[in-house]
Amino acid sequence: MKIRQTPVGIAIGLAIVASPLIASIGTDGVQTILQADDLTVVAHGEKIYQEQCAACHGVQLEGQPNWRQRDGQGLLPAPPHDASGHTWHHADDLLFEITKYGPSVVIGDADYRSTMPAFANILSDEDIVAVLSFIKNSWPDNERQWQEEVNGNQIDSQLPKNRESNLLDRLLK
Ligand code: HEC
Repeated sequence: MKIRQTPVGIAIGLAIVASPLIASIGTDGVQTILQADDLTVVAHGEKIYQEQCAACHGVQLEGQPNWRQRDGQGLLPAPPHDASGHTWHHADDLLFEITKYGPSVVIGDADYRSTMPAFANILSDEDIVAVLSFIKNSWPDNERQWQEEVNGNQIDSQLPKNRESNLLDRLLK
């Protein structure tokens, strides 16, 4: 399976230093694009989702109860990946990097504790793209559109127009 990953140029590289908003590109310097309209990829992703993600994020992408509240140990429950969560607030590349490297690497805080595993040594890049493409494919039109806007603006290194959004803050909300 061929996946789309483009090295990010120097111009964007400089913008990353200036703006933590697109720090996700900076994690590996590669911009990864999901393939939510490729139904072969999506079907493969659904299988991986049930094997690797459903135990925490729910068989129907519904997440764990009270997912906005940290528990007694300061850990967040797994958020939903359906429209009721905020996975769709994040650009493709950020979702890829959270899944591959884990939250603490992506937000740049080694002390940040989470039960969300880093899948770098568990799944190939193709499998991570597939599982996230399955998740993205499940979103209703409104959420899909919003997320595509975030995607476009991540590439332009700008905020989504007319909307309050901070990708990294959203990660922790
Ligand atoms: C052991 C439980 C667990 C498993 C298994 C797990 N996750 Fe998570 N995931 C979490 C938790 C908890 C969070 C919340 C992040 C935090 O703790 O700050 C999370 C967050 C995320 C986020 C960020 C969502 C957002 O809105 O910010 C993504 C994307 C994600 N997980 C994808 C996946 C994928 C894809 C898989 C399977 C390949 C997976 N996770 C497997 C527990 C898990």
